[in-house]
Amino acid sequence: MTGLFITLEGPEGAGKSTNREYLAQRLRENGLDVVLTCEPGGTPLAERIRELLLAPADETMNSDTELLLVFAARAQHIAQVIHPALARGAIVLCDRFTDATYAYQGGGRGLSVQRIEQLENFVQGDMRPDLTLIFDLPVEVGLSRAAARGRLDRFEQEGLDFFQAVRGSYLARARQDAQRYRIIDAGQTLSAVQSDLDALLPVLLERAIG
Ligand SMILES: Nc1ncnc2c1ncn2[C@@H]1O[C@H](COP(=O)(O)OP(=O)(O)O)[C@@H](O)[C@H]1O
Ligand SMILES: [Mg+2]
Repeated sequence: MTGLFITLEGPEGAGKSTNREYLAQRLRENGLDVVLTCEPGGTPLAERIRELLLAPADETMNSDTELLLVFAARAQHIAQVIHPALARGAIVLCDRFTDATYAYQGGGRGLSVQRIEQLENFVQGDMRPDLTLIFDLPVEVGLSRAAARGRLDRFEQEGLDFFQAVRGSYLARARQDAQRYRIIDAGQTLSAVQSDLDALLPVLLERAIG
């Protein structure tokens, strides 16, 4: 693997989708081959699994079912998109990846970290993101931005406690590995967030080009 695998993480409304476009554009301006993708999903089959995960439904989804669906989609996404892109030397910018599983299924649903680690090792082998940007903001701010976006999905319908746990998990993981994680203050104005991303650009270019 010669490419660079960058993931964007954070709760609903943090600005991941908005800023992944911005980052991709900045990296492309510097002549880099960028593949922009997103989880759960990223391939037609994985998008069908995404629909199962996000659609509100009368039948309560068992937490283990949810975890397995997340990793099923991820296995497909890695095989079809992420692995081939990294193998040809591209930068992969991925909106959510396994840190989201630790945050949502681990922190939010209360599944054990060990169980998630087992599936992470099974599905990914030793593949891990090279760099993870955590878009962090107060839960209420993110939820109100997400609500303004329209109909709430199955996760967005969760309560404040769930999202406090999600945020706590992200921050706890970020604190364990300062080399891999960067925390972005996503509660700022969009232009302030983007100037923080500009400031990070040399780090990304340095890791991409070496
Ligand atoms: N820094 C910001 N300040 C205010 N609104 C923002 C900011 N970043 C994103 N938004 C808006 O918040 C909403 C959610 O952003 P989005 O990028 O979809 O977040 P995510 O993908 O993390 O859920 C969008 O309407 C977006 O325009
Ligand atoms: Mg998004």
